[in-house]
Amino acid sequence: MTQLTQSVRLEFDGDVALIHIDNPPVNALSHHVRQGLLDGMTQAESSDASAIVVICDGRTFIAGADITEFSGPPKPPSLQAAQDAMENCSKPVIAAVHGTALGGGLEVALCAHYRVGVSSSKYGLPEVKLGLLPGAGGTQRLPRITGAARALEMMTSGEPITAEEALECGLINEIVEDLQAGAIAFARRAVAEKMPLLRIRDRNDKLADTPPSMFDEFRAGIARKTRGFLAPEYNVRCVEAAVNLDFDAGLQREQELFRDLMKGTQSKAQQYYFFAERAALKIPGLPKDTKAADVGRCGVLGAGTMGGGIAMNFANVGIPVTIVERDEDALERGLAVVRSNYERTAARGGISSDDVETRMGLISGSVDMGDFAECDLIIEAVFENMDLKKSIFEQLDQICQPGAILASNTSALDINEIASATSRPDAVIGMHFFSPANVMKMLEVVRGDETSDIAIATAMGIGRTIGKTPVLCGVCHGFVGNRMLFMRGIEAEKMILEGAAPSRVDQILFDFGLPMGPFAMSDLAGLDIGWDEATSSGSTVRELLCESGRRGQKNGSGYYTYDPTTRAATPDPEVEQIIQGFAERQGIPQRDISDQEILERCLYPMVNEGAKILSEGIAIRGSDVDVVWINGYGWPMYTGGPMFWADTVGLSDVADRIKHYASTLGGEHWSISPLIEQLVAEGGSLSTYTN
Ligand code: 3HC
Ligand code: NAI
Repeated sequence: MTQLTQSVRLEFDGDVALIHIDNPPVNALSHHVRQGLLDGMTQAESSDASAIVVICDGRTFIAGADITEFSGPPKPPSLQAAQDAMENCSKPVIAAVHGTALGGGLEVALCAHYRVGVSSSKYGLPEVKLGLLPGAGGTQRLPRITGAARALEMMTSGEPITAEEALECGLINEIVEDLQAGAIAFARRAVAEKMPLLRIRDRNDKLADTPPSMFDEFRAGIARKTRGFLAPEYNVRCVEAAVNLDFDAGLQREQELFRDLMKGTQSKAQQYYFFAERAALKIPGLPKDTKAADVGRCGVLGAGTMGGGIAMNFANVGIPVTIVERDEDALERGLAVVRSNYERTAARGGISSDDVETRMGLISGSVDMGDFAECDLIIEAVFENMDLKKSIFEQLDQICQPGAILASNTSALDINEIASATSRPDAVIGMHFFSPANVMKMLEVVRGDETSDIAIATAMGIGRTIGKTPVLCGVCHGFVGNRMLFMRGIEAEKMILEGAAPSRVDQILFDFGLPMGPFAMSDLAGLDIGWDEATSSGSTVRELLCESGRRGQKNGSGYYTYDPTTRAATPDPEVEQIIQGFAERQGIPQRDISDQEILERCLYPMVNEGAKILSEGIAIRGSDVDVVWINGYGWPMYTGGPMFWADTVGLSDVADRIKHYASTLGGEHWSISPLIEQLVAEGGSLSTYTN
């Protein structure tokens, strides 16, 4: 055995050389891995070995370039040097894959003459998720082995394929049971049978019949999902180059496009997000050995909009759920919605009809809270009313077993006050899902003053189990996400009274990259949330709209009027009149508001509030705020989230504008966060700020 670098060693099993990579946790291609691979290839080629296997220790094959190296100057050797050594080797080179061969990892494997993998192995080019393209020849080699159609799909989605699929499309040559033994056996067979030293770069057979129309059709197909992102289009251009140019010219094109993306802010934002999402899982002060409670059965109280979706999350991963409603009718209605959601997914091919029954079978309905006695975690999702929630928690305290975690899905209420209704405030925590709860990935975990480490570890852990992105925050009105949203709402509301049409405000935020603006969002949620006909006094535009029967999308009219069949939204002159009439009665002068002002007045109060949330310690780090906004509200990931975006715009410029609006418009939400002023003075940034 020869240790080549800190992470790579060369071993021999008789006539087969084994280049072992051991760079935990994911065998990323750090410079010492590249060096070791190059040295290993050079030494193995000049040794007596007749074949070479590249194999990894630990939980996975190479999972890609070392993303932490992207921010510094390139360190030699280049990956290409090692890849060339593999591809041009005079002996068969076999890549042996377990875990995930991703990005640069798959690009290394594609330079072997043959690939074998265990049945659980996966293969993908996820660079698009980092705002990049597979810049180590992957864009030219993958289409040559899978054909253009599958390469387009893999490169623009970033999603990996299974070993079975990889075998079927020719990406790997064999599925082996024992990785090392299987790879060595394959290597010996390659030598014995004098298998050709296949270089993917020399192949063109799978590209020959690519119809030229494929690319534009593909672009049209992904346009909605990839709106605003640069990387998917760049990936498509690379596959076009693979089809239309020879290998070396295609490689050159790939390199130009890769450099372009690497220089831009989108890739920086998306790489920042990659680490932000992982950082959010780390809770300072939470002892590493904190044991989360085992959630064998989950209870959900309330089968309304949120409760039904929350229950689905658990059933989807095989955890039985007891869902309790206040009466049979409401229960039946709630369960029917859950079933129809599953059936819709099944009709679209997302799950099988057996899955529908299995999942429904995991959900038991009841009208007796006593049935929560067996549950390990109970999530309350009843109406947003403090007195009601307190009385519910008082009852849960009586019913639930010791050690059970009592969670509330409240969107804004004080978790400490809710906890005070129980004799075990340490077991009480907020688990704030976003609507639709079975779809949206965001989960704000809200820690009260007395919430225990176990409750935090359980909520964060189970959040991951059900596929959410949990972020821990503290108690305040609206927590992180909604508290910032409220600030945007104040200015959006003011601007429509000053003369900006709701549709214009919405359009500007849509163009910024959000899925919808505040008025379309209100229509979707329902204008009558929290509205009471008995006490409504026409004191806001929203009240006036509700009073005139406009309740939002659900009854076909709100800020917009909705086509009953297509649900397409059109601005309505009646709404304009309502707004103008109200503005007149309030004596608000009308004026032209520029697009820039609309954008600033919507987004800067959010940045300002985000900074206040940080300085109050409600969020642990600036990047947590970004994770909440990207996953909870669809803030465009390619700008990194509101904190990263403000840093990109320039915090000092943002601060100037906030101060400008504070002096011209006034209002507490414009009073500048001292943290912003401090960071401007120190040259710091919101996105890297940590409490
Ligand atoms: N570079 C540096 N660090 C990485 C990394 C990478 N490529 N991939 C993962 N890590 C780190 C994570 O930050 C995390 O660190 P932490 O423990 O300090 O938080 C640790 O490795 C473990 O990662 P996960 O928590 O994500 O572990 P999982 O087991 O859940 O997932 C994985 C493993 C599927 C490999 C996942 O980490 C992943 O998807 N990684 C990124 C893969 C990727 O994007 N590869 C392409 C890179 S770009 C590239 O290759 C360019 C090339 O074309 C030139
Ligand atoms: P909803 O009105 O759709 O559902 C509430 C359900 O609770 C109803 O089915 C009702 O019958 C039931 N209920 C009321 N009192 C009950 C009791 N004593 N026992 C059993 N069931 C009872 O409300 P929605 O929208 O699901 O909201 C629930 C909670 O989730 C609220 O706290 C809300 O703030 C929060 N939330 C709502 C979001 C949304 O977009 N709708 C998003 C995130 C949180």
